[in-house]
Amino acid sequence: MIGVGTVGGGVAAALLRRHDYFAKQVGVPLTVRRAAVRDIKKPRSVTLPEGVLTDNVDDVLDDPEIDIVVEVIGGEEPAGAFIKRAIASGKHVVTANKELIAKHGTELLADAHGRGLDIMFEASVGGGIPLIAPLRRDLLANEVQSIVAIINGTSNYMLTRMAQEGAGYHEALKEAQDLGYAEADPSSDVEGYDAAYKLAIMATLGFQTRVTPDLVYRAGITTLDPRDFAYADELGYVIKLIASAHRTPDGIITRVTPALVPQAAPLAKVDGVYNAVQVEGDLTGTVMFHGAGAGADPTTSAVIADLIDLAHSVATGSRERKYWQPGQGVPVVGLDNHEDRYYLRLHVRDAPGVLAKIAHVLGDHDVSIAAVMQRETTAGEGTAELVIMTHTTRRNAYDDALQTLRELDVVFEIQQSLPVEE
Ligand SMILES: NC(=O)c1ccc[n+]([C@@H]2O[C@H](COP(=O)([O-])OP(=O)(O)OC[C@H]3O[C@@H](n4cnc5c(N)ncnc54)[C@H](OP(=O)(O)O)[C@@H]3O)[C@@H](O)[C@H]2O)c1
Repeated sequence: MIGVGTVGGGVAAALLRRHDYFAKQVGVPLTVRRAAVRDIKKPRSVTLPEGVLTDNVDDVLDDPEIDIVVEVIGGEEPAGAFIKRAIASGKHVVTANKELIAKHGTELLADAHGRGLDIMFEASVGGGIPLIAPLRRDLLANEVQSIVAIINGTSNYMLTRMAQEGAGYHEALKEAQDLGYAEADPSSDVEGYDAAYKLAIMATLGFQTRVTPDLVYRAGITTLDPRDFAYADELGYVIKLIASAHRTPDGIITRVTPALVPQAAPLAKVDGVYNAVQVEGDLTGTVMFHGAGAGADPTTSAVIADLIDLAHSVATGSRERKYWQPGQGVPVVGLDNHEDRYYLRLHVRDAPGVLAKIAHVLGDHDVSIAAVMQRETTAGEGTAELVIMTHTTRRNAYDDALQTLRELDVVFEIQQSLPVEE
């Protein structure tokens, strides 16, 4: 093992506690031979046998008796270098590292497969929810049409608090940090990077094409205001950070963005730290995976499933199965021509003819209005807040319309703009 933190501690504890049970399942015992950490003196949640813990990663990577390396340190480097060394010295790898697999999975897996080895990464997406194995294996017969997911527990916890308690963004973040759901630096969660890594991995497998995180359009939750939740509720929606990938005639569209979800939709009911992923296959129809997307125990379940699978291959001498072979066929395309409905919140002058002017600009860009709500802001100030729901419109036409609206003298500010995930 490399790393004995939240996940590594859970994995090591389960391997010790259920040693006999796993030995029976695999046919040979699974033993933690060495476990590398940064600081050997740090208190741990698990007590490993004498001589197992080390602060020298070479003790893991250079030991010829080790068949499988479990990388649970996270981040791009040095985890990437450690995995390459493990593969070069003939060891299979299990990793929970979403960032590394999302960015470099294709090269790492090609290298491993070329040497008759495998890298498994069930724990990299959705903690204990089985997602990688279904996408790698069980759904292979399908042409996947879409993947739509709530895949970041921290932001979903915050959005749930904002929707249900009227909490502001900073209040919800502090609460998530106090409960240990959010890191001191929450940017990866609240700005959508974490969800983009996970979406890139799922989309690569689901669409059999290479989707790297830089190709995923990304918007975070930092600009959401309690008013957006109240208006969304009035209109029959909730706001969720949605990671989605859709097959279109031009290619695959991928994005992570806060979006309005109809209250009756299954994803609207996924609250707190829970994750859910909906995959639509042409043969299966829509299937939905739901559960705890993080935490030591759920993630341990995923890591050990991969370990058992690989250990079984080692014990039986069976060769690797090449499940990750993204082709170059289906391109990933931008959102320009994508059609969506939008929720738009504007701060405007409260005067006769303002709505007509705004409607005129939208109409000029082929953006048609489905619903409008107007609220006075502070009495006597002569300003109002206007909420507009549009009908389906092309993204670039909508963006052009917003640009023109910004230039109108009656529009003080475009305060919010969110797509609707139907
Ligand atoms: N936490 C979750 O719920 C969860 C869920 C799904 C996936 N994951 C993924 O699992 C991985 C691990 O996450 P975690 O939450 O377990 O992290 P963590 O609690 O911070 O633990 C990281 C471990 O790695 C060790 N480490 C860090 N750098 C090292 C180095 N250069 N050499 C040797 N050891 C090193 C640390 O050693 P010290 O203990 O000595 O500091 C620590 O034991 C990440 O890729 C994460 O994205 C986590």
